[in-house]
Amino acid sequence: MADERILVVDDDPSLSTLLKMRLKSMGFAVTVCGTGEDALSRAQEETFDFAILDLRLPDVDGVGLMEELHLLHANLPVVIITAHGCIPNAVEAMKKGAYGYLTKPFDDRELLDSIDKALAQKRMSQEIHRLQMLVNELYGLDKVVARSPEMQALLQQVARVAGTDATVCISGETGTGKEVIARVIHCNSPRAKKPFVAVNCAAIPESLFESELFGHQKGAFTGAYQNKRGLFQSADKGTLFLDEIGEMPFALQGKLLRAIQQREVLPVGSQTPVKVDVRILAATNKDLEQAVREGRFREDLFYRIQVVPLRIPPLRERRQDIPSLAQFFLEQSCQRLHKQIKGFKPEAMQALMAYSWPGNVRELENAIERAVVMASTDLITLDLIPMASSKVESRLQPLTEAKEAFEREYLKELLRITEGNISRAAQIAGRYRADFYKLLKKYGLHPSNTQQERTPSMRQILSE
Ligand SMILES: Nc1ncnc2c1ncn2[C@@H]1O[C@H](COP(=O)(O)OP(=O)(O)OP(=O)(O)O)[C@@H](O)[C@H]1O
Ligand SMILES: [Mg+2]
Repeated sequence: MADERILVVDDDPSLSTLLKMRLKSMGFAVTVCGTGEDALSRAQEETFDFAILDLRLPDVDGVGLMEELHLLHANLPVVIITAHGCIPNAVEAMKKGAYGYLTKPFDDRELLDSIDKALAQKRMSQEIHRLQMLVNELYGLDKVVARSPEMQALLQQVARVAGTDATVCISGETGTGKEVIARVIHCNSPRAKKPFVAVNCAAIPESLFESELFGHQKGAFTGAYQNKRGLFQSADKGTLFLDEIGEMPFALQGKLLRAIQQREVLPVGSQTPVKVDVRILAATNKDLEQAVREGRFREDLFYRIQVVPLRIPPLRERRQDIPSLAQFFLEQSCQRLHKQIKGFKPEAMQALMAYSWPGNVRELENAIERAVVMASTDLITLDLIPMASSKVESRLQPLTEAKEAFEREYLKELLRITEGNISRAAQIAGRYRADFYKLLKKYGLHPSNTQQERTPSMRQILSE
């Protein structure tokens, strides 16, 4: 622990001295700064593993400082210290990427807990990195930005299923990273050295589907001049990724189901089934359950592919990922375009954080690429972010949505700080328990899910 470095920024010398003493006694190396400016210049010279910032500083506010620090070190976990009763500020800070917050007066346990959790997460991402080096594949976990708790939880699920042969169905809006996750699963599975074959079910004309998937024999139909292996056979010993599976023609779903269940395919025009050993991953941006209800998707196939359902949340539900993703794409674009851009002006990053990203990660990636092309200085400025120039009104959500978004964040926070203790949470919220439960139900929140346990490492999960 001794080499883990903590930055404390607080203008109250008595508090910062006390913090320094306590943290040192816990074995951390501590740097104390009294102003935002001082903190920024220190952060340019050295890297920190964790930062504790007071919300009110003489020159900047803690949230602004956090944003600037994140431009330098996108993954630095930051805890904001707020005065008692500043929950809205704290929620705001969390939205902008704070790891957590503490309300004065706080005790050592609380502080150590959040440091512990953040560092455990950091060790986990280092572990993920190490794993990537081991697997040494083209598409590994270092291509995946996952800073938010939502994505961290998803990666843990990924780690759990990667080593198995379980059929996984990845759902998520367009551009959320379904294919990225499918490739990560493949590259971290025992099949990693074998083919990963992706099929876009929406792109194959219905008449060619069967022959594409299962192959055909010479002479099976006009134009079948020679025997052709289907995609199932091309993926033998590897992984077959059925992208946009919801678009698969109904008539073919039965044939697909048979192939998956019996692990063999019947090429068009052939009488002899061919054994195949493939692991199936599927993806959809449609609500398959609804498709089943509407009779467009076979129920038996649905259950067959939903063995492990993984849902990738839209980017607007995990805004904490935005700075890291933006930085990641910035570096990628700079490399590709041979430009040197250090980071983002705070107001440009704010615009990125505020936008709702209907096209999700892909839209963000394109926006950054465009900004890099247009940039003429070494920082991305606000005018390069087209979302910012769309009228402010269009960035604002309707009142009901905004209220609901706030309520949801508030409840999540409340459950986090009370560690899922419903009575305490209901009491703080000033609601009866029964009402409080109703609220949780409304937002699909569950007390136990919001307790952030210490996250086991990727290797621990994989070796289980
Ligand atoms: N977590 C992530 N980290 C880094 N890059 C990501 C991440 N998620 C998505 N991307 C990038 O965003 C783009 C879209 O991802 P991907 O193609 O996997 O999305 P998708 O959900 O399959 O989209 P669609 O529904 O349109 O098929 C890709 O360029 C991908 O590399
Ligand atoms: Mg896709």
